Amino acid sequence: MESAHELQSRALAQLDSIWDNAKLEEWRVEFVGRKGAVNALFEQIGALPKQERGAFGKAANAVKNALENAFNAKVGAIKQRELSEALEAEPLDVTLPGRRPQRGRIHPAIQTLREMYKIFGEMGFQVYRTRQVETDIMNFQLLNIPPYHPARDNWSTFYVADTDERVVLRTHTSPGQIRVMRAMYPNPIRAILPGMCYRYEQTSARYEIQFNQVEGLAVGHNITFSDLKGTLTEFARRMFGERPVRFFADHFPFTEPSAQMDVKCIICEGAGCPLCKYTGWLEILGGGMVHPIVLRNGGYDPDEWSGFAFGMGPERITMLKHGITDVRLFWGNDLRFLEQF
Ligand code: PHE
Repeated sequence: MESAHELQSRALAQLDSIWDNAKLEEWRVEFVGRKGAVNALFEQIGALPKQERGAFGKAANAVKNALENAFNAKVGAIKQRELSEALEAEPLDVTLPGRRPQRGRIHPAIQTLREMYKIFGEMGFQVYRTRQVETDIMNFQLLNIPPYHPARDNWSTFYVADTDERVVLRTHTSPGQIRVMRAMYPNPIRAILPGMCYRYEQTSARYEIQFNQVEGLAVGHNITFSDLKGTLTEFARRMFGERPVRFFADHFPFTEPSAQMDVKCIICEGAGCPLCKYTGWLEILGGGMVHPIVLRNGGYDPDEWSGFAFGMGPERITMLKHGITDVRLFWGNDLRFLEQF
């Protein structure tokens, strides 16, 4: 009968040359499995003379441990060899530069918004946010636009709920005028009201169903149209650089008189080009003197107080600054566009 020692050397010698998992499994079954050679050793113990059993048992245990350790080491060694073979088969160039992670950045319309906050902030205007979901009363009626007024056609409206007070997505930031007046009375006001507005419209290169506006409102005891012109002229100078501006009559139900402001085209400087549609001028905002009815609705007595208001679109201004020709790019989430800013 093979001695424990001989069994061990034979098993280890075989194991030495095994390098695949199928052969390793055969080896395990033959030597350390339940019906393997090591267990057979233990079964011989009973047949030995009593005085030899202890020594033989010890020797058998030592073989068992040695083979099990060798087996576990081999499992690891095979794994390691497989890995290095795989690495050699598909060479890995560790000198290749890594992939740059995408970095977030500020949305172009928000960059323009921040520029506006800065310019108006330096002129003493505070940023005041009001809600995007409004009542018809706030969005229209308190702004001197009663139900069925034809001017409502200028603001195609999303209705959220048709209750006693119809609920709408604000079509402009002007309802914020009423809210900021009611919050500030009886103090003078210099505020800008930024945020999303919504219009129920067919989208096109020029129309979008959502866009930002920045409303401006100043209310005081002696505010005149000259203050409006001066404030907006200085705003345009800081936003677009040194260039002529012009004001002319417009109409809004909530300002009287009302005006539109243009800047000299930043592409052609007035000579005429596609951006300004050969007029030489770019329209950038509407505004006017706050209508007495609106002042009163905000809680300010129009015999004692006066004010100016204006509204402009940061997306539109961004388009003019960068020559962007399709407003849908702003909220279309196309990285090829957004990454350019
Ligand atoms: N709310 C107007 C619009 O959306 C703009 C505006 C604001 C005009 C304030 C006058 C005064 O067209």
